[in-house]
Amino acid sequence: MSGVLQDSTFWWTLCLTGAAAIAATAYVLFGPESLRGRDSRVPGLINLGNTCFINSILQAMASIPSLLQWLDSKETPLAVSLKNVLHALNDNNEVNISPEELTQALMRHRWLIDHQQQDALEFYHVLLTTLEEEMTGPTLSLSDLINDPQVEAQSSSTKGMALTKIGSFSAPSQPKSCPLQGLMSSSLVCCDCQHALPTRYESIDSISLPLSQRAASSSSLVECLRDYMSSEIVDDIECPSCSKRAGVKTKRSFRKKLRIGRPPEVLCLNIIRSVWRSDGTMVKNRSRLVFPLTLDINSFLTTTATRQDKTKYQLRAVVEHLGGPSSGHYCTYRQCGRQWLYTSDTTVYPVYNHEVMNCEAYLLFYQMD
Ligand SMILES: *[C@@H]1O[C@H](CO)[C@@H](O)[C@H](O)[C@H]1NC(C)=O
Repeated sequence: MSGVLQDSTFWWTLCLTGAAAIAATAYVLFGPESLRGRDSRVPGLINLGNTCFINSILQAMASIPSLLQWLDSKETPLAVSLKNVLHALNDNNEVNISPEELTQALMRHRWLIDHQQQDALEFYHVLLTTLEEEMTGPTLSLSDLINDPQVEAQSSSTKGMALTKIGSFSAPSQPKSCPLQGLMSSSLVCCDCQHALPTRYESIDSISLPLSQRAASSSSLVECLRDYMSSEIVDDIECPSCSKRAGVKTKRSFRKKLRIGRPPEVLCLNIIRSVWRSDGTMVKNRSRLVFPLTLDINSFLTTTATRQDKTKYQLRAVVEHLGGPSSGHYCTYRQCGRQWLYTSDTTVYPVYNHEVMNCEAYLLFYQMD
């Protein structure tokens, strides 16, 4: 009797091991059973020769509904080729697609895509800047505007507000700005008399954050944001109020504070991982970054923005950089419906949340709720 029991236990164990091996193979090929399904698949992107930096950004952009919506009403050549590729990346009937239509549209704007490893963030900036230029004509630089007599008249009294005015100058030709764009505000307050200089606004399409130096082994995203926004002291700035009181030009230390002046619909956060060593070489800080699926930026907004704007965001995509400081590979974890997918060129498979949260994040895309 006991022998039979032993035998059956043996076979049972063998079956289980076999099942586990088959399950492991199935996992590698298709992802876990519960994550499988046609709806949760998207096509991969063909690598045209070191173009993973392009592919990773396109997969991330394809996961952002408000960007697709915004592009839908746009008819300029680059916008059309971008929306074509982004829509195809959400079509589960497509297999692998090529980003060539888009790279050619960029080349017509005289961008050279040489087949060297490039930075994904740089590509993201180039893409957005070129899109905007195509829609609004070349953007006027600050000096163009300052030389314009009309602007001169308007801004001469409040030089500090010049940047705000640039925003409103380009506004008429652009009914709704790109959802990836927001405004950063920086304010300076005299440490001596508390006089505040006019707040400056700067248009942003991403925020670059160093890993928190206070953290021992891992930093949290919120901590990095807090460090970045926390006030710093800037010396030797002329204070109009102190000067008036003293009767001579007086320089003071000012407290500089950064805030989000207008939160973008889609917040792109870049984690700076490159660290220069004293011997002049660059290393990559691979320490862990803890980031949330839901991010509330309420405490990082200006007081006027806090009252008007929504502050809760959901994570849509994470671009990961694998490898060293000057080479490596980009891949993207992206949302498709409520499912997370891992995408790396033509490789696409479903993953669990914890796999996303454990990746070495380089760019994080959050969409406003
Ligand atoms: C890497 O980042 C961690 C925080 O996440 C920090 O403590 C550490 O000093 C950094 N290392 C380098 C070489 O900068």
